[in-house]
Amino acid sequence: MFITIEGPEGSGKTTAVDDAVKKLKAMDYQIVRTREPGGTPISEQIRNVILDKNNTAMDKRTEALLYAASRRQHLVEKIWLAIKEGKIVICDRYLDSSLAYQGGARQLGIENILTVNEFATEGTFPDLTLLIDIEPEIGLARIMKNVDREVNRLDLEKLDFHQKVRQTFLQLAKRYPERYVIIDASKDRETVAKATLDAILARL
Ligand code: TYD
Repeated sequence: MFITIEGPEGSGKTTAVDDAVKKLKAMDYQIVRTREPGGTPISEQIRNVILDKNNTAMDKRTEALLYAASRRQHLVEKIWLAIKEGKIVICDRYLDSSLAYQGGARQLGIENILTVNEFATEGTFPDLTLLIDIEPEIGLARIMKNVDREVNRLDLEKLDFHQKVRQTFLQLAKRYPERYVIIDASKDRETVAKATLDAILARL
């Protein structure tokens, strides 16, 4: 089982998943929790290049290819092995982030980004994708309040960029209804965590 968690910035997806994973582990499910870009040493090195605030000259296709490269390495070194061992892999961001950020917001086109990612992933799509959905105005305000979170190169994009990200995620949910579940992240922490857990349990 391969589960991905997606959403615009500041949706609180990490907290929602932390809460759900604690409960799943208590029920004796074998969970591998990971994140993108990153998840393995090579992928983390690629992540540092992508998110470095000083890399203002980065071309958008370079950005898309680096995300796909990081994803590939993560699959090879971690995700495929864990799935083979029968574990439940829960990954914070995956291919749909590339479709929404690079395909939608950077306007490289969803189909182009799909092509690159089909090559990178050899067609490994998630069984379940939870879209922790929030309006960008609320999400970005949450990020600015969170002093512990380091602001990265993509956080610095304008509101309009983040609106496109969210719109593309909503479009993707319509395109892939069999694997998408939308969770309203404007609710309180407990409600969001419960909806996250329920959606995972329903699929398991
Ligand atoms: P991160 O600090 O992990 O943010 P978050 O907590 O919001 O997940 O930074 C990841 C950033 O990279 C985030 O702004 C989303 C972006 N991203 C893409 O643009 N494309 C991708 O394919 C992925 C995986 C992430």
